[in-house]
This record gives sequence, structure tokens and C-alpha cells, in this order.
Amino acid sequence: MQNATNPLREGLSNRAQAKPCALVIFGATGDLTHRKLVPALYNLAADGDLPPGTVVIGFARRDKDDGVFRKEMEEATKKFSRQPVQQELWDHFAQNLFYHRSEFDKDEGYKALAERLDQLDKDHNLGGRRMFYLAAGPEQFEPIITRLKGSGLNKPGADGGWSRVVVEKPFGTDLPSARHLNETVGSAFDESSTYRIDHFLGKETAQNIMVLRFANAIFEPIWNSRYIDHIEITAAETLGVEGRAGYYETSGALRDMVQNHLIQLLTLVCMEPPTDLGADSVRGEKVKVLRSLRQFKNADDVNKHVVRGQYAAGAINGQSVPAYRAEQNVKPGSMTETFVAMRVLIDNWRWSGVPIYVRVGKRLPKSAAEISVFFKRAPSVLFNEGTPDDERGADSNNVLVIRIQPDEGVSLRMQSKLPGAALRVEPVKMDFQYGASFGKASPEAYERLLHDAMSGDPTLFARRDEVEEAWQFVDVIERAWHGSTEGASTADGGPADAPALCEYAAGSWGPPEADELCKQDGREWRRF
Ligand code: BG6
Repeated sequence: MQNATNPLREGLSNRAQAKPCALVIFGATGDLTHRKLVPALYNLAADGDLPPGTVVIGFARRDKDDGVFRKEMEEATKKFSRQPVQQELWDHFAQNLFYHRSEFDKDEGYKALAERLDQLDKDHNLGGRRMFYLAAGPEQFEPIITRLKGSGLNKPGADGGWSRVVVEKPFGTDLPSARHLNETVGSAFDESSTYRIDHFLGKETAQNIMVLRFANAIFEPIWNSRYIDHIEITAAETLGVEGRAGYYETSGALRDMVQNHLIQLLTLVCMEPPTDLGADSVRGEKVKVLRSLRQFKNADDVNKHVVRGQYAAGAINGQSVPAYRAEQNVKPGSMTETFVAMRVLIDNWRWSGVPIYVRVGKRLPKSAAEISVFFKRAPSVLFNEGTPDDERGADSNNVLVIRIQPDEGVSLRMQSKLPGAALRVEPVKMDFQYGASFGKASPEAYERLLHDAMSGDPTLFARRDEVEEAWQFVDVIERAWHGSTEGASTADGGPADAPALCEYAAGSWGPPEADELCKQDGREWRRF
């Protein structure tokens, strides 16, 4: 494979050059900053992709100074970095790492921040470029934005500069709260300065979906209901709730993973070709898919198309694990779903009648995210004569599998003649692996996304209407399960006609009802 001419090397669009800026991280003592953000910034620096002079200011409530913050970040980066940390490089990087102590809702803290940013601007020649990353708890988003506006920090620091805001998930908990948050953000920052993070969009293979579809002439002509039988999108994790029950109890798998990550992948697979690679052309096409999703009408409809599950005790890789309800801080009678499987239909010309099966869950046997495109079977006139179509098994479909993680790559299942005198047909696989073809590990999603936000490219961030459309689709399901969209963990089980919460053993592929969902249509989930 020729790297020099490969579009994967060049990215989705002509990447704008990032210029040095001041990046303020709200929630600097939190998990995300330790595990993802600072390691990603270090890796950008190590690869020469962080504009020299960029400064990072951690904003949080705990009392500490720059020195202590740098030491903590060093330890975290050594633990979580994709590449081993080189001390000399770290020391250089850490010189531009600062700590700013303040409450999130105290005006003085923002006034002091503004003064500090003005000084850093001068010292580091930052040209008034500022990026505010909201990595604090979602309840802090509004207080932070209001004060950024109040202190004028939503405006560029100097002529020619800019001020941007990056908002972490969850972006609201339902449509009304997402709309409210959009209004709050919109009152301080233009849409073009607002970056709503969905880290799945920064994953290398998610970015490759568009390249695969639109840079290869062979796929687009057959990418429709004439040739595609169905599509499966699975995101499986072996992990359980991992000490995040406080958040997860109010979220559940539907809000945590489906409303954002899975629906985003679905839009990339199903969108029409955009007119160009500009952020609004791409996001405009994605929104059209969201608007064509067939909305569920009522609890009955939800029951027919959506399965929710919760893990019971079981074993993962031979290790016993407790039931969800026995996890720390989970209510004993919690109705929070840790698994969702659903059949989604898209009412447009391209996809009419093609079911998209979406499945996500915690405590499944494997950690993997994949999209499998099942093509219609070849007629059985030559090789499978006499075997009715529905008895031929899913192995006889051509399947294009896009592996988001791990083993990032793409494979195509085809039928082949088994060597030998007899004419036996067996499925075989053609496989492309990123690691083998490009000889280096893919960057972490956060590296790409931080760089894009600094460069001013919002293509891989969700636009206001995308987020709202996705909530609209998901809210109907939440209402069927819980009677309202406010809080997922009602112990009373929700309305009387609420679809059941099905139990599955940790370490299994979800409840039998999820298999049934596919079986009803004469299909089955791909085994992996
Ligand atoms: C997060 C969810 O957005 O994505 C987590 O909140 C989930 O529950 C995680 O574990 C999965 O992301 P990744 O990149 O680790 O597959």
C-alpha cells in the first residue's frame, strides 16, 4: 500500500494548521484529564503535532500549585500514555503546564483567570487564542459558561485571536436539557466556536468509514437496499460500571453509548456522499440520516424493536464478577440498563427496508466495536442448489466488517472453493489491518480531536441539530421504559406497560431476547 498517496494518511480534509493557544481544562483533577486529555496532549507534543508554545491551564477546586499539578500529570501520563514518556520531552512539555485554583461558580476565579491568560498571551505570543475544555461534571457546564461570558473570556483575547469551547459528554440527559444547554452555550459562543466531543468520531477507524465509502469506487454503487441485507453495529465491553455508578445510574447504556457513539457511527455508515469535506456538508448529511430514523411510537413499538438488559453475576475470562445491582453505589432494585439491542429502520430511498441492528453492553465476553455490513446472498442456483435461502446460514452472506477496535481494520468475507477434487464452497476472509499496513499504532481519539479543535475544524464534533435529533430518537425509548426522561434508575420499574428489563449473565452476549430480535427476522448476530 502506497502511504504517500493514501487518503488515510491525509485525513478527511485538508487539515488546517493549528496555532499555539491557551487551553484551559475545567475539571483538571478529574479522571478524564488524567487518563485522556493530558496524555493526548503529551503525545501530540511527542509527535510534533502540538503547536510549540501552547500552554495548558488546569482549572479545578482543589488547592495545589503548578509544581504539584505537573507532578500529578507526569505520573498520570506515564501510566496512561500511548507512547512511553521520554523524560526530557516531558520536562519541556511540563514547563507550559499550569494550575489555576478556583470554584466553578465564583466570579473572582474567572477574573483572575482572565488576568493570567492575558499575561500568558504576552509571554508566549499566543495571539489571543483560547480554548476552554469542559471536562468537569455536567452540572458545572452552565455555571462555567455563564462565568466565561460574564468575564468576557468568550471573546478572543486579542485581535486575530479566537475563543472556543469544547463540551464533553453527556450533552444533556434528554431533548429539553440538551436544548437548554445548547441555548446556554449559544448565548456565549457561536456554533462555529462550539465543539461537542464524541470521542468515537476521533477513532481512526470511524474516520475511515467515509474514506472507505467514498474513496473507493466499488462500494458506493452497492451501498443500498438493493444489495445490502442488513447492518449490525456492536460496541461490547468486558468492563462493568467501574466505580462510575453515580453517573451510570442516571444514564444507563442507552444514554451513555447509544444516543451519542452508536448513533454517530450509524450516521457515518448511512449518510449520503457530502458535496465536499467541509464540516457543515458532512454534518448536514449526518443530520438527514437522523431525521430519517423511524421513531418508535409507543411502549409496544419500543418493546417490539428494543431489548434492554442488565448484567447478573457471572464470569469474564474465568474471573467471577458481581451482578450490576451488587456493584458499589448501585441501588439494589436499580432498573438501569447495562445492555441495549435494537432494530433501527431508516425511512429514505437508500435504506428503506434494511434493518440496522445496534447492540451495546457492559460485561460482555469481549471488548470490541464493529460495524458489519451484510450483503444479500448470491442466488443458490449454482453452488447451493436445493438449499432454501433461509437454511443457508449467515456464513453465506458477503460481509464487510469495519473493526473500530481493537485490531483496527476492515475485512471482507467471501465464498471460495475449498481445495480438492470435490466442489465445496467455504467462507474465507480478506483482511486489512492498520497495524500491519501502516506499521504504526493509531493515535488516540482525543489526540485527533484536541488537534482539530485547536485548528478550528469541527467536522468530527457533533453539531447542535445532530445532538438534538439523537435525543429526540432516544427520549421515546426512555419514556417507554421509565415513564419520563428524568432519571433512569427508578426502582419501581416505570409504567405498567414498560418493556421488560431482561437479565443476562456477565460474560454472555446479552439476554436471549436480543438474539430473538434478530431471529424474528431470520437473521443472527455476527459471532466475534
Ligand atoms: C464512554 C462511556 O463514553 O465510552 C463509557 O461513558 C464507555 O461507559 C466508553 O466505557 C467506551 O469508550 P472506549 O473508547 O473505551 O471504547
